[in-house]
Amino acid sequence: MSAHPKLVFSGMQPTNVLHLGNYLGALKNWVKLQDEMACLYCVVDMHAMTQDTGYRHPRELEAATREVTAAYIASGVDPKKSILFNQSQVREHAELAWIFNCVGRLGWLDRMTQFKEKTGKHKERASVGLYTYPLLMAADILVYKATHVPVGEDQRQHLELSRDVAQKFNKDYEVADFFPLPEPVIIGAGTRVMSLRDGTKKMSKSDESDYSRINLTDDADTIAQKIRKARTDPNPLPESDKGFEGRAEADNLVNIYAALSDRPREAVIAQFAGCQFSQFKSELADLAVARLTPIAAEMRRLLADPAEIDRILASGADKARAIATPVMAEVKRLVGFVT
Ligand code: AMP
Ligand code: TRP
Repeated sequence: MSAHPKLVFSGMQPTNVLHLGNYLGALKNWVKLQDEMACLYCVVDMHAMTQDTGYRHPRELEAATREVTAAYIASGVDPKKSILFNQSQVREHAELAWIFNCVGRLGWLDRMTQFKEKTGKHKERASVGLYTYPLLMAADILVYKATHVPVGEDQRQHLELSRDVAQKFNKDYEVADFFPLPEPVIIGAGTRVMSLRDGTKKMSKSDESDYSRINLTDDADTIAQKIRKARTDPNPLPESDKGFEGRAEADNLVNIYAALSDRPREAVIAQFAGCQFSQFKSELADLAVARLTPIAAEMRRLLADPAEIDRILASGADKARAIATPVMAEVKRLVGFVT
């Protein structure tokens, strides 16, 4: 057993608006964890710079940082309970990331599937930052010695790399257990929400079709319309888990229903066994509208006062720094930096 006190860290990139996958895969779990452990929730603006949208559009990056902050709060992240801040205000993230650039191995990064997916055939045109991004992510977590990281399924491999970095650092500097090995918290029916247009593709910010995703800022009509138009097959809903084989779209909509209603998938399957999609979709739309539109309304309210959002971020950054500074001082001593 590790002696490290339980501490949660997670973050999202301020790129475009957040969608249902971000909410069900991550945010919803963040809110729950607030009552169980100390939590740090970060808007990772330095990570957003690894992509063109963050790098070339400074005003958009600022706006997206405030918008994602508002989405966190509107979803239930409470700045009084959790430390809420943006990454670039705490310089220790960048400092530790450099050291991790020297601890991490090229071979580890070469295995990262997300980099391969994002760059495709054009690896040489990607920024170096996009390539070393998982090491900055490891620094985000470990600069606080965080032990638990709630994320969606797609971040599992990055988290394994964080554990490898922690382990290698501890071994190389002969400081057993200096860094904890952070554990992924990947829970609920929404850990991998798929596109509404293609049940084999992840719901994503970068999909060209807006009908592939439900954005947290969509209004009731848009949500209902997107669900009505979601791809399905002609058969009614199956009666058991087995019947979902080869029916990725049906599977996805049932998972979304289960996650939104906080009920086990089996209970939802039992409820809608043999039901036509038209009826199921109409109930799903009602549920999604009821859950999501209050978040959008609260976001709008918060965004009307950007100065207040900036104050929340600055105050969170002060608290985050208070944890990170002593850890970083110890790291510097361990690696031999004269201070
Ligand atoms: P990103 O949009 O890549 O910045 O992801 C932010 C958080 O949302 C991470 O924890 C992801 O794992 C999670 N996430 C993103 N897309 C999905 C999805 N389609 N289903 C479930 N979780 C997701
Ligand atoms: N890489 C994560 C994503 O794209 C965002 C992220 C950055 C993160 N640093 C993190 C998530 C630390 C958890 C912990 O979703």
